[in-house]
Amino acid sequence: MEIRIQLFFFTLFLYVFSLHANTLQTFIVQLHPHGISITSSLFTSKINWHLSFIEQTISSDEEPSSRLLYSYHSAMEGFAAQLTQSEVDYLHKLPDVISIRPDRQHQVQTTYSYKFLGLNSLNGGAWYQSGFGQGTIIGLLDTGVWPESPSFNDHGMPQIPKKWRGICQEGQSFNSSNCNRKLIGARYFTKGHLVASNSLQSNVQEYVSPRDSHGHGTHTSSTAGGASVRMASVFGNGAGVARGMAPGAHIAVYKVCWFNGCYSSDILAAMDVAIRDGVDILSLSLGGFPVPLYDDSIAIGSFRAMEHGISVICAAGNNGPIPRSVANEAPWIATIGASTLDRRFPAIVHMSNGEVLNGESMYPVNRLMSKGKELGLAYVTDGDRGSQYCLKGSLPRAKVRSKIVVCDRGVNGRAEKGQVVKEAGGAAMILANTEINLEEDSVDVHVLPATLIGFAESIRLKAYINSTVTPRAQILFGGTVIGKSRAPAVARFSARGPSFTNPSILKPDVIAPGVNIIAAWPQNLGPTSLPEDLRRVNFTVMSGTSMACPHVGGIAALIRSAHPKWSPAAIKSAIMTTAEVTDHSGKPILDGDKPAEVFAIGAGQVNPNRAINPGLIYDIRPDEYVTHLCSLGYKRSEIFSITHKNVSCLDIIQMNRGFSLNYPSMSVIFKEGMRRKMFTRRLTNVGSPNSIYSVKVIAPEGVKVIVRPKRLTFKHINQRMSYRVWFVSRKGAKTKRMSFAQGHLTWAHSSNGFYKVRSPIAVTWKYKSYG
Ligand SMILES: *[C@@H]1O[C@H](CO)[C@@H](O)[C@H](O)[C@H]1NC(C)=O
Ligand SMILES: *[C@@H]1O[C@H](CO)[C@@H](O)[C@H](O)[C@H]1NC(C)=O
Ligand SMILES: *[C@@H]1O[C@H](CO)[C@@H](O)[C@H](O)[C@H]1NC(C)=O
Ligand SMILES: *[C@@H]1O[C@H](CO)[C@@H](O)[C@H](O)[C@H]1NC(C)=O
Repeated sequence: MEIRIQLFFFTLFLYVFSLHANTLQTFIVQLHPHGISITSSLFTSKINWHLSFIEQTISSDEEPSSRLLYSYHSAMEGFAAQLTQSEVDYLHKLPDVISIRPDRQHQVQTTYSYKFLGLNSLNGGAWYQSGFGQGTIIGLLDTGVWPESPSFNDHGMPQIPKKWRGICQEGQSFNSSNCNRKLIGARYFTKGHLVASNSLQSNVQEYVSPRDSHGHGTHTSSTAGGASVRMASVFGNGAGVARGMAPGAHIAVYKVCWFNGCYSSDILAAMDVAIRDGVDILSLSLGGFPVPLYDDSIAIGSFRAMEHGISVICAAGNNGPIPRSVANEAPWIATIGASTLDRRFPAIVHMSNGEVLNGESMYPVNRLMSKGKELGLAYVTDGDRGSQYCLKGSLPRAKVRSKIVVCDRGVNGRAEKGQVVKEAGGAAMILANTEINLEEDSVDVHVLPATLIGFAESIRLKAYINSTVTPRAQILFGGTVIGKSRAPAVARFSARGPSFTNPSILKPDVIAPGVNIIAAWPQNLGPTSLPEDLRRVNFTVMSGTSMACPHVGGIAALIRSAHPKWSPAAIKSAIMTTAEVTDHSGKPILDGDKPAEVFAIGAGQVNPNRAINPGLIYDIRPDEYVTHLCSLGYKRSEIFSITHKNVSCLDIIQMNRGFSLNYPSMSVIFKEGMRRKMFTRRLTNVGSPNSIYSVKVIAPEGVKVIVRPKRLTFKHINQRMSYRVWFVSRKGAKTKRMSFAQGHLTWAHSSNGFYKVRSPIAVTWKYKSYG
């Protein structure tokens, strides 16, 4: 068996190799910023310098520019080009070439939430103090935008900031008049996607312009900075005033995601121009699996963005609850997990045996079945055709006609299952969670009456169906219910830490609403985005860390408006140290039925009204990240790829003995034989002068925590003070190979109860053997 597996890998490898030897593939070639052998100044332009590399490597008499996709200057120095493997081998030998990475495919991480987060215009909170995010520009890298959506109306918006240098790029069904004082910029980047997808058959109609064909980008950009829209709802569900987190901010969209995903060459090109355009915040609801930072174009581009003072906010990914699944983990990025709201859309199944199943649905209330009509139940389990998943063409009409059809989650899309049931003549659908989804409850605007039930309930449902020849049930739709359930809780799909590539930084950083979020939608798409769905809406519901990310993007804009001089690290610190670890009932935030760990929630649930006035911040200078990378043992060439700085880590480490990155959270790792760890941290007073803070620690189990000094007295604003924390693993505390404990450390103001500066602590023992 083992031999066969190895052979399989071996042949696969050969196949891939021979494919690469003579076919063109997209590579991102990173150059020394100024050149070593030939200085870039010898060329009339950067693009000519970049073209000279392609010219000297291609053997044929092709035009070098036919191979060039992008020339990068701001997010990175270098270019993206179509190259063969032998050309890549040649380029690798040139002294100016720092690194070459194959293009990588990423995916998007697919109204009321501002109120849930405590934002309203009257309470003197974050909206008041920031003027709703006025003057700040949020850039979103996504699937584009539907500019006519009422969420992008610029009524009451101030003038476009003078520093703005972006454009409103024209294209298919998109011209410059589609931008306004709300949507101030729009561009699209398609070259990497086009060359990667030209062999793929696609019947997807996509606008070759910033216009959104999918809805995801319209949804995320309106969540971050959408204008107020009265009477927004999805067919009457979740009705209220819809608005983004920073309704006063300007929006610039960079379309980088297409039907086949989002390519890193396109993402890097968008970051490159966004830096020059003058955005303040970049929100990226996309990502893949964790990769080393020097191999990660998003990490590299965002390092440069951070140096330019731009906050980069990224989705943590939807690969939870698997541990170590969190993506976008660079310490200069804010990594956002997803949480639930306390808004429910009950749609309750009453089975004929008298039992009740609590489901959720966004099916229009007071329509068919809301008064309750009992129907036969059908659960077709024909394993070969995938009937239990309701795959296309798998449902025999005779078995499902006019029935409530049960479909297991998984394999195909949730909304697609509804369409399949409808086409087969089914009257309604019960979507049943499996063991993978447990009680996760992302709702959809299904094309027929439908409800989603949890795993425990699906077992009861199937047992009932099995117990009788004529199972029957009815679904009662209950509209929108707010405040009845415990929230926020961690979304099951939200990616979990610890960080795969750098466990010394606790990730994700925070969680934000990402389940059943209502936001703007293209006006030519049905709310399920199925081609068969002919209904039209201005808003729809979506779930994902993709939805959580722009919430924090908008909150970062509020903080930026209130404190224009703050660095991205200061803004992130404010968001993290003020986050909440309890839910609205005052009990710990739940993850399933257990209190959530720090690897699920990071510092906790964002709280904009506290984040705008955090009292103290942990700031980080760009060069401190370089020292951090040195302390992790990154090689000189790898650090150069990420930071464009040619440093001697030996010297840096010697000059910074006992260095620890001034991160707002703490991740302690005890390796074999190690019992003590010391961190230093530096606080900057941004609250009020003459402030005394004292520390309070909840120590992780098995660890003694000592903080010196225990009191900090700040005389002035912007004064900095440092402290040290020792973590001592108690003898025999942990004997398992890998174990974990958590706690937190809080600096509390002596008289102003508003200022509580809290850092989560994660402790991991990585022992090889029992001891
Ligand atoms: C842009 O599109 C709008 C609406 O489609 C149209 O009225 C307008 O004339 C167009 N403007 C330009 C400059 O093409
Ligand atoms: C249905 O009932 C039969 C017989 O009582 C049992 O063997 C089978 O496992 C049941 N199936 C399910 C899905 O409960
Ligand atoms: C969507 O918004 C537009 C513009 O505000 C409005 O004219 C239209 O009626 C709305 N459509 C729906 C379905 O609410
Ligand atoms: C970095 O500096 C070292 C020593 O100063 C030098 O040998 C090396 O070529 C430099 N590398 C780059 C990529 O600039």
